[in-house]
Formats: sequence, structure tokens, C-alpha cells
Amino acid sequence: MTVKVGIDKIGFYTPNLYLDMVDLAHARGADPAKYQVGIGQSKQAVIPPTQDVVTMAANAAAQILTPTIKTQIAMVLFGTESGIDNSKATAVYLAHLLELSPQTRAVELKQACYGATAGLQLAADYVRVHPQAKVLVIGADIARYGLRTAGEVTQGGGAVAMLVAANPQILELEATSSYHTADVMDFWRPTYRTEALVDGKYSTNVYLDFFAAVWADYQRQTKLTIADFAAFTFHLPFTKMGRKGLRQILPTATPEHQAQLTAAFEASQADNRDVGNLYTGSLYLSFLSLLRHGHLQAGQRIGFFSYGSGAEGEFFSGLIQPNYRQGFDDAGLTDLLANRRAVSVAEYEQLYNQQLSSDGQDMQLAVGQEQAPYYLAGRQHEQRV
Ligand code: HMG
Repeated sequence: MTVKVGIDKIGFYTPNLYLDMVDLAHARGADPAKYQVGIGQSKQAVIPPTQDVVTMAANAAAQILTPTIKTQIAMVLFGTESGIDNSKATAVYLAHLLELSPQTRAVELKQACYGATAGLQLAADYVRVHPQAKVLVIGADIARYGLRTAGEVTQGGGAVAMLVAANPQILELEATSSYHTADVMDFWRPTYRTEALVDGKYSTNVYLDFFAAVWADYQRQTKLTIADFAAFTFHLPFTKMGRKGLRQILPTATPEHQAQLTAAFEASQADNRDVGNLYTGSLYLSFLSLLRHGHLQAGQRIGFFSYGSGAEGEFFSGLIQPNYRQGFDDAGLTDLLANRRAVSVAEYEQLYNQQLSSDGQDMQLAVGQEQAPYYLAGRQHEQRV
């Protein structure tokens, strides 16, 4: 008998600060409608210097772990492109913070926004072979393009933590997926840079081309069509991007089904619209948003399009499980997003410039404003404290 494997629990964390896109538009001399409608973003998470990908991942993972689950975790697969060390994996720092067993395999995975999908698929394959084990998969990032750049409106940040297990509560992953790799210079960040380089318009075209390629290949492999899907979730660098992806395939559905898929898309973009891009975590925040705001039923099939610039695309699918609502803390996530404080553009710019110090000097951060269980207090002797 084949064991069901998939996503058992999901946690999400983003810091308690945000920037309103209307304020940013005014400061940049842009029409607010361009940011809110043209790009499709309302708010953007602002990441204080006291949070990095490790602390954000710990804050997300702590929501879904119990002492018993911690003893069952065999691997931590940490997808990120905002790593804090060129050698030591963020997963090792995380395993320590979460007090996981030393009998845990902990590694970091990188391929732009695709890293967490690589983690999810590797985790699922591992659990298919070792059904007693659980794997913690992380997608955590801080999206930084630079002040006054075209990409600025598409920044954001946060962490998604997923527990992959046999007989999952939320989603059974189906085994077939379609993936596509090509060496493309649409978005990249050389090791000497703290901000991404991007050929913005080109990147949006490559995203859509990759979606077309993997969706066609997935249909060829599975013989499934759009009629077999209740919803499609997309990597959302900004919500308009996923909307364009959906529009690409929508004409192949009946008018009634088009309305259902569009309603499901609205549900799946609601939280991303208020957080911004979190690179590796964006697709999974969108899935969480669908779980929270959509009207799903057990057995429905959900499509996932993962895209990481550079570039890698993958389309895969999963089936909603009967008790999916028990796999995440809906009220806690509503509170997390509702209780954030709006910062002014001036405060955002100040925090943006404090974010990284690449000089290796000792530093102590002002942690007085921190409310999260895990935060960064500073650096001593070139080590995080
Ligand atoms: P831009 O030059 O600011 O925007 O760049 P634009 O002039 O193309 O306008 C954007 C949209 O707003 C257009 O709509 C305009 O018509 C509309 P569209 O034609 O696209 O449907 N617009 C208005 N709408 C209403 N009222 C108005 C108004 N004015 C204009 N007054 C761009 C936009 C996304 C290129 C830029 O923000 C950027 O470079 N962002 C970063 C790159 C990015 O997010 N790429 C996405 C694909 S690549 C990816 O997803 C991977 C990634 O996550 C990284 C990774 O993998 O690690 C980025």
C-alpha cells in the first residue's frame, strides 16, 4: 500500500512592521493605483535589523512544533536566498534554536525563490521511504531591491515553516510533477551584493513562459486538465504576477469554472497582498492564504506553480485533506497580520539602511521593540548572538 505523504502543518511569521503602499507611492511620486492595482500590493512587510531568516524561521516553526514532534524530525531543509553565511547552513542555526535532536540532518537549499519547493519535494520523497519520519521545510527570505528602484514596491519578507509527514492533515502531495531549468539572467544577486539585480520586465515574461512549459508538461504526463483543479496557487513576487499566470490558462475552463478559479485566486493572494514578496516562502504563503480565505473541500485538487529566477519552474499538485483547518493557526495568523504597526516612509528607509552591516564589527541591536520569541540581539566576535 502506498503511504499518503504531504503537508501536515504550516506556520508563518512576518515581523510586526509594515509600510503602506499608498504612502510609498506618494513618496516616490507614483500613482497609488499603480502600486495597488497595477502591481497588486497594499502593504509591504518591513524587516527590522533584529530579524533575519533564521529568527523568522524559528518564529514560524515554533508555531507548529510540540516536544513530541521535535523528536520525530529527521531533517531540516531550509530554502533561502538571504542566507547569513556562505558556509554554515541556516538550518543548523535553526535546529539549535528549536532544540532539535542532534540526530537531525540539517542543510540549506538555494535556487532563488524555488528553494523551499526543492525542500518540499525532497522531504516528500524522504518520507515516502521513511514513513515514521517528519521533515521540517522552511522558506524564509527578505526581498530587497533598493530604495527608489522599480523593484522597491515588490519587496517584503517573512518565513513559512511546513511539516512534511505521512498521513498529513492539510494536503496530500501527488507524486507527478513537472520541472524546467534554464540558465537565464532575469534576477540574480552576486555574493558581493546585499540587493538583488533584476531585469524586471524580462523576469515577468520568463515566469509566464516557464509556467506555460511546466503546465503543458504536467498535463501531458498526467492527462489531467484545468477541469480537475479547484484552485491554482502561484509564486507571488507581487499579486498581479499570479493573476497574469492564471489568465494565461483561464480561457481553457468553462465560464462557471473560470469564476470559481478566479474566486479561489482572490483568496490565495489576500495575505501576500499585505506582506509582499518573501521569495522562497511566497508560494506557500499563498497556499496558506487559500486555506484561510478560500472555501475548500476535502479531495479537491490544488495546483502549485513554483518559480525561482535564474531559473527553475515546477508545477505540482495536491489533494486537500478533511481536517486541513487543524493544520494551521488561523486566529493566530489573523492577529499577527492585524497587530502590525505602520511605519512612515522615513522610518522604513532608516530600517532598510540598518539592515545589514557587512563590516564584521561587533554590534548590539536595540531589541526593546521586539515582541517575537526569537530575535537577533547583535554580533560578537563575528558570531550572531
Ligand atoms: P514598473 O516599470 O514599475 O511597472 O515595473 P510597469 O510600468 O510595467 O507597470 C506595472 C503595471 O502597473 C502595469 O500593468 C501597468 O499598466 C500598471 P501590466 O501591464 O503589467 O498589467 N499601471 C497602473 N495601473 C493602475 N493605475 C496606474 C498604473 N500605472 C501603471 N496609474 C516590475 C514592474 C514588476 C517589473 C518591477 O516592480 C520589478 O522589477 N520587480 C521585481 C522583479 C519581479 O518581481 N519579477 C517577477 C517575476 S521573477 C520572480 O517571480 C522571481 C523573484 O521572486 C525572485 C526569485 O526568484 O528569487 C522576483
